[in-house]
Amino acid sequence: MVQETHLGVEHLIYPVFLKDGNQIKEEIPSLPNIHRWSVDLLLREIESCLKLGIRVFDIFPAVEDELKDKTASLSYDPNNFYLKAIKEIKSRFPEALLMSDVALDPYSSDGHDGIVENGQIINDKTLPILAKMSVAQAEAGIDIIGPSDMMDGRVGVIREALDENGFTDTSIMSYTAKYASSFYGPFRDALKSAPKSGDKKTYQMNPANKMEALTEAGLDVDEGADMIMVKPALCYLDVIHLLKEHFPTPVTAYNVSGEYAMVHAASRNGWLDYESAVFEMLLSIRRAGAEGILTYFAKDFAKMTRS
Ligand code: PBG
Repeated sequence: MVQETHLGVEHLIYPVFLKDGNQIKEEIPSLPNIHRWSVDLLLREIESCLKLGIRVFDIFPAVEDELKDKTASLSYDPNNFYLKAIKEIKSRFPEALLMSDVALDPYSSDGHDGIVENGQIINDKTLPILAKMSVAQAEAGIDIIGPSDMMDGRVGVIREALDENGFTDTSIMSYTAKYASSFYGPFRDALKSAPKSGDKKTYQMNPANKMEALTEAGLDVDEGADMIMVKPALCYLDVIHLLKEHFPTPVTAYNVSGEYAMVHAASRNGWLDYESAVFEMLLSIRRAGAEGILTYFAKDFAKMTRS
């Protein structure tokens, strides 16, 4: 009766990996039970998740290396497999909310979220590409644009481009406080998107900083973000709490790949009880103040709590 925090499948967003082709269901060793799917099989997977009550899906493209280039030009080609698949999924399941990823890294031969010149990330040359990518995704039927790139000024540029093209109803969930974290490793395995050189510390946040998250959130909200995200979740519960206290904008959190992998590794060794660890982790992220949680545990959680 007096429990303060509630956690249900309606709070969860399921990240899924899409690959070009047919009849593909590929294992990702560092992400147990998560796969790279071709669209035909992903449609079935989404159908089974919808039946379990999961409504929101974040779709990430796993692009073949030979299609990557320095400017991520595939990202806004209307014939690319990602945009075609989004169209197909949205028309089959209009009730599913689809979220995208906006950043150069899945399509970039440099493996960075922005344009690289002489070893530097060029913020302002990246912005128009992010805007084109977002408009192409909105055209394909994406409901929530998810800029994960951490370039300065991108939310404003994306909002303006969406509005100019008539996509005033397409919302933006901004990766607002995204830290330069060691917990993204398994995700980079899934997309083979690790940086070819350097690291992401010039654009992702320093894990030592909390107040800087307020600055980032202020900018994103002013530029038009509809939801603001903290990523990763577990090492940054204080940041989730801080943003929740200071902004009326809905706050979400990304329970990232490394956090998922840790629980699996420990429970496979018999060192943790899987179900109770998952429940406690997700509940703590909600308690910290996140309305929505992106998590690879979504499907297992839905099965665990099915009544
Ligand atoms: C990159 C991106 C990353 C994740 C989502 N989008 C990794 C990175 O910044 O290198 C990580 C998600 C996860 O670890 O689950 N644009």
